[in-house]
Amino acid sequence: MRSVALSSNESLANLLKEERRFAPPAALAAAANVTADAYAAAKADRLGFWAEQARRLSWAKEPTETLDWSNPPFAKWFADGELNVAYNCVDRHVEAGLGDRVAIHFEGEPGDSRAITYAELKDEVSKAANALLELGVAKGDRVAIYLPMVPEAVVAMLACARIGAPHSVVFGGFSADAVASRVQDADAKLVITADGGYRRGKPSALKPAIDEALTQCPQVEHVLVVRRTGQETAWTEGRDVWWHEITERQSAEHAPEAHAAEHPLFILYTSGTTGKPKGILHTTGGYLTQASYTHNAVFDLKPETDVFWCTADIGWVTGHSYIVYGPLSNGATQVMYEGTPDTPHQGRFWEIVQKYGVTILYTAPTAIRTFMKWGDDIPAKFDLSSLRVLGSVGEPINPEAWVWYREHIGGGRTPIVDTWWQTETGAMMISPLPGVTETKPGSAQVPLPGISATVVDDEANEVPNGSGGYLVLTEPWPSMLRTIWGDDQRYLDTYWSRFEGRYFAGDGAKKDDDGDIWLLGRVDDVMLVSGHNISTTEVESALVSHPKVAEAAVVGATDSTTGQAIVAFVILRGTAQDSDELTAELRDHVGHVLGPIAKPKRILTVSELPKTRSGKIMRRLLRDVAENRAVGDVTTLADSTVMDLIQSKLPSAP
Ligand code: WT7
Repeated sequence: MRSVALSSNESLANLLKEERRFAPPAALAAAANVTADAYAAAKADRLGFWAEQARRLSWAKEPTETLDWSNPPFAKWFADGELNVAYNCVDRHVEAGLGDRVAIHFEGEPGDSRAITYAELKDEVSKAANALLELGVAKGDRVAIYLPMVPEAVVAMLACARIGAPHSVVFGGFSADAVASRVQDADAKLVITADGGYRRGKPSALKPAIDEALTQCPQVEHVLVVRRTGQETAWTEGRDVWWHEITERQSAEHAPEAHAAEHPLFILYTSGTTGKPKGILHTTGGYLTQASYTHNAVFDLKPETDVFWCTADIGWVTGHSYIVYGPLSNGATQVMYEGTPDTPHQGRFWEIVQKYGVTILYTAPTAIRTFMKWGDDIPAKFDLSSLRVLGSVGEPINPEAWVWYREHIGGGRTPIVDTWWQTETGAMMISPLPGVTETKPGSAQVPLPGISATVVDDEANEVPNGSGGYLVLTEPWPSMLRTIWGDDQRYLDTYWSRFEGRYFAGDGAKKDDDGDIWLLGRVDDVMLVSGHNISTTEVESALVSHPKVAEAAVVGATDSTTGQAIVAFVILRGTAQDSDELTAELRDHVGHVLGPIAKPKRILTVSELPKTRSGKIMRRLLRDVAENRAVGDVTTLADSTVMDLIQSKLPSAP
């Protein structure tokens, strides 16, 4: 990791001035699940506040202790409590008479759909749990899940949770090698996959990657295969088992066992900037408490009337916390969509919102910028009037994208919640509350009730309002990672060694004059230009605020005079044409918005940007291009041809 030296009198750039403000809609505020009192209550008694939130759940044994921090930074939350996560997500709603409520409206990419009620989900989860037991999976055994976005993915995760077998979901777009290293690291005993899934209008095989990966993983005893596409599938007799065959003959009764609050619920791998992926370990009681609380509070969920839709893939933490555990623990009705946003047409998302009357939509800035690029006329063709809260996650959202989202998707009415969190934090940490916070485009603003976050300088001193530095979390929180699977030392080194007693998130941030937090991107991405720390996020937001720019990625390239020079890669909107005049105009625009120091030295127009499969821009690769050297490892790119495309378009570098 490149460490950025921030001298104490010189902080991350604090240049962008955003004056727009949006008050919560009066009707929403009047009926909001969470009001301003929650901040005061949590401040007065943080642990009492979380103990109260834990009572949202049904415990087989109520916890008497809240936090055990006697061996920091190894936390135990609600340690003497016992509960079953699947019971909380499914059975208890059926017992409460809500069995006929739709849990999942599944929309397949080819247009097939399926509504699954809580009663049906309970039967399916119980059968799957019984099937796992028949295949010899016992409490504590790890199960790897490599599935497309189909309901069986949710069922599989809940079945694992039910029997206490930690799952490790591996994103269906990862290669055989990536699967193999994750299956090995978690030492998984069983893998759940599918013949394939639908992707961009075609069946796309999944099982071959498992077959290849498992040549390196002899400990895997069985592969459970969901039939989704019906395509030709190679079969290993004795090892492979069809999901439908084994689940069909199971009993729909399975008594949920109570697991200790600190029993491992799942491992989820996150790729660090360097080294092998980190297996982030989450446990049971604290994780579910915070996933459930934040889903209710931040989206103002009314389970009787809302239709929730989180567009993430189940392979990311967003899918874990806000497709599976948050919404289902709250008895929500939600949409699950299998495919891509432009299949068969660029209005697919809006067609789905209209079809199901989606009221709460949770998506990522990368998607929002793509929709902006496709044009305002596409969402305008659909009835989006059911929407009442919009969420964003994954990256800093550029103010212009925020305002576009509110106007063109939210009809100018909906609050936007920009939620900052990480795989490691397990659930949301910093976000407006839709019935409380006056929102500011581009800022995640305030730590949620019960969460303590701040911004510090190099010497760990809290920065004053109006300054920038590093984002840290100053108190443990219920859904925090407990360690890195099998590597406590790496857990300490990565998160707890940079600032004594504080969790280092790896993100740059600033506090504005009101003390609200603005995320400035990964610290590794900060640029140092003529002695000034400048955030890539701020320059990108300045570029995107120009009407002709849809997306921008900015990197610092080594420069003999200024240390680093700002190089920008931009995607133009709709009909805008690349020209020297436009480039000059964009440079001036950035100079005008942020100040002359932030003017990019070079601006290159491209048609695509390199992104990870979760939609984050890979600035490292753009830095390689900007510094005129061979492009590094592209294996985590969503589309590995993008870099060739970018390089082929470049004028020969100076
Ligand atoms: C990193 C964590 C959280 C689920 C999806 C990503 C960036 C995430 C925001 C936001 C600014 C954000 C941070 C963070 N990030 N949300 N609202 N504003 N930045 O999980 O893959 O673990 O990535 O995503 O850089 O550290 P992840």
